[in-house]
Amino acid sequence: MSQVDEVRAAADIVRIVGDYVKLRKSGANFVGLCPFHQEKTPSFAVHPVKQIFHCFGCGVGGDVFKFVMLIENLTFPEALRRIAEKVGITLPERVADETYDANARVRGELFKLHEAAAKFFATQLSGTSEGRTGRAYLADRGLTDEVVGRFRLGYAPAEGQGLFRHLRDAGFEKELLEKSGLVLYEAQSERPYDRFRRRIIFPISNESGKVVAFGGRALGDEQPKYLNSPETPIYSKGRVLYHLDGAASTIRKLDYAILVEGYMDCIAVASSGIENVVASCGTSLTEGQIRLLGRQSRRVVVNYDPDSAGVAATQRSLALLLEEGFEAKVLALPGGLDPDSYIRKQGAAAYRARLADAPTYTDYLTERAATT
Ligand code: UTP
Ligand code: MN
Repeated sequence: MSQVDEVRAAADIVRIVGDYVKLRKSGANFVGLCPFHQEKTPSFAVHPVKQIFHCFGCGVGGDVFKFVMLIENLTFPEALRRIAEKVGITLPERVADETYDANARVRGELFKLHEAAAKFFATQLSGTSEGRTGRAYLADRGLTDEVVGRFRLGYAPAEGQGLFRHLRDAGFEKELLEKSGLVLYEAQSERPYDRFRRRIIFPISNESGKVVAFGGRALGDEQPKYLNSPETPIYSKGRVLYHLDGAASTIRKLDYAILVEGYMDCIAVASSGIENVVASCGTSLTEGQIRLLGRQSRRVVVNYDPDSAGVAATQRSLALLLEEGFEAKVLALPGGLDPDSYIRKQGAAAYRARLADAPTYTDYLTERAATT
């Protein structure tokens, strides 16, 4: 059996599609909202017997490979590899296929580099004396070791070449270090230095759980408060939602997502046992992020900061969400608190109660109009 046939035989299209689209059984088939065009009533069908998908709305259809190529924007060999991973088949390093390109190789190397960097930062936090400052900072903000471990938080040392040396010694080439944006080179001397220095590190994963970027928080009042990875071949800020990998299955199960602004907000909500939370990591939501979210559920509670930037971001994000056919509610916490500060002050139960009472966007607007 060829590798392609082997992967095809092991992959159940209903399960694979179900990772991206919320499906329900309808007769012999499964149906859901088409991820390839905007719709409010499901015209997207998956046939478990024929192992194909088809949308009666936009006409798109094909087998499991076609589906993953379209939804992840991958070439055939990349999709083959992705599906193989999902079903636990190990493919040889290099699949014999002419379309296997340099681009895919660089992306693969960058995933490895980011995984190595995440481990480095985590070890700096947990196992070095300098990391103690980071541990104290996190403990002071109420994060337990369990939460630190679950979110793979780390620490970037102040010295400024630690990550560079670690990655170089692990065999990563200069060209790749440059592409990752994690190591920078001084203009004249070409002296390498780490992008993140003396910061708490938040690894950012894509929807399949691979680390693709980092956010780094200053320990004090240094600016910027958060420094982030630049755009790279594996990271586009507008197409990633923080914690979507951890939240996806709960978002599908509960059929709604909570959207917050920041890393710490997301961690605070998730660690109070409310798993269906993601962060846009910046102010406004992008269309790419909405598309990612829409694969899990089309209902969302927007819980941005109640400061003026947050209110503006809430309005812009809600306008986009409604345009894309989402059902939206607004959770505006009292006392000018962001979700993290609110939970620390009032507790998870109070947050849950506020969440359950969050008004629809229309009611929220009516209330605001009445009070201002
Ligand atoms: P906030 O300024 O609201 O920070 O930014 P926060 O999440 O409450 O952070 P803490 O509690 O002070 O640690 C919200 C989000 O905007 C992005 C980050 O993703 C942050 O979590 N941000 C903020 C940046 O990317 N850069 C910045 O300088 C500030
Ligand atoms: Mn905060």
